[in-house]
Amino acid sequence: MLGHGQTNAVRSTNARPHLVDSFGRSVRDLRISVTDRCNFRCTYCMPEEGMTWLPRADVLTYEEIARVARVCVERFGVDGVRLTGGEPTVRAHLSVLIEKLAGLVVPATADSPRAGQPIDLALTTNGATLALIADDLKRAGLQRINISLDTLDREKFRHITKRDELDSVLEGIAAARSVGFAPVKVNAVVQRGVNDDEIITLAAYGRDHDVEVRFIEFMPLDAQGHWLTDAVVGQDEIVSTIHAVFPLEQVPSRGAAPADRWRYLDGRGSVGVIPTVTKPFCGDCDRVRLTADGQFRTCLFATDEFDVRALLRGGASDDDLESLLRRAVGEKWAGHAIGQVTFVRPRRSMSQIGG
Ligand code: GTP
Ligand code: 5AD
Ligand code: SF4
Repeated sequence: MLGHGQTNAVRSTNARPHLVDSFGRSVRDLRISVTDRCNFRCTYCMPEEGMTWLPRADVLTYEEIARVARVCVERFGVDGVRLTGGEPTVRAHLSVLIEKLAGLVVPATADSPRAGQPIDLALTTNGATLALIADDLKRAGLQRINISLDTLDREKFRHITKRDELDSVLEGIAAARSVGFAPVKVNAVVQRGVNDDEIITLAAYGRDHDVEVRFIEFMPLDAQGHWLTDAVVGQDEIVSTIHAVFPLEQVPSRGAAPADRWRYLDGRGSVGVIPTVTKPFCGDCDRVRLTADGQFRTCLFATDEFDVRALLRGGASDDDLESLLRRAVGEKWAGHAIGQVTFVRPRRSMSQIGG
């Protein structure tokens, strides 16, 4: 582990304790995986066959998830919650969970631009079912949606996801926009030799459909362990490819978000790149994660997990939960070491961690 140190219960000027790690980074964002299951089999994430799903009894209930989220919001001033998977929309009655979470309000005393307001509640989805449920999700109180789309070519879509669902995803993106989600973002994982020839096509799609496309550097979290540095298309190459066709200027200060952003000089929106491999952004990270089976992780690439489920099911108090989360965050490391000899792949892959 790169980091060490004890938990710091730092008090802001208005005396609300935030969760701060030993490198001085405050936790603001909780990413919750609601299921490890998925209706796609994207090659950069899951094998086509042979995934072992979590036993149902191990998966947190919506009540358990909502309790952890409430503790994080009320006690630590966490102001953003994002639901992920697997594919979150394959879990039954997702809007029931969204309703519960939409009621969480950032404490008025929290050191947050959202103090006194509802949390920023977002979803990351493959979009395949959105045409059917986008309206329900919106009514339940969801505020933002990010949708994965790596290609606009039907055959290639089938090759990447192992499903013939390009049209459903495109309809899903249209549905998300038409029920009023804004912004709608589209995530495209770029793999050398697979879809790097579509950077311009995807950028043009974003410009034409008023969605922010974010190109994601391929990360070593695929279940099959096929990741190679050579398969990564880096941020500089992505940006220069787009800039040559649609001139760009960088949007300054990304804050804690994973994406660097550029705007099109002709005013037709913006585009992002998530440069985990070539320009790690761990120094500004404000995220923690809860897996579908109730394990708390302080990094996508963490090799340690903290068993929140055991506490939830063992009669623990909110104070006990707070202590465990503070201890975990106190041990958060400086960042991943992709590309260095010290890098260790996490035991679990993307769909089991939550993305
Ligand atoms: P916004 O709030 O809209 O900026 O969402 P987001 O980009 O944080 O979330 P999304 O789920 O759309 O993630 C996009 C990509 O960023 C995915 O590939 C995530 O795995 C990746 N990502 C999210 N958080 C982290 C992180 O802490 N570290 C790294 N390396 N990648 C991350
Ligand atoms: N590298 C980069 N991004 C990935 N995603 C899934 N697996 C990987 C990987 N190995 C992305 C998905 C989705 C988000 C949750 O994570 O495309 O947009
Ligand atoms: Fe499913 Fe998302 Fe993994 Fe694709 S990346 S297989 S959509 S969990």
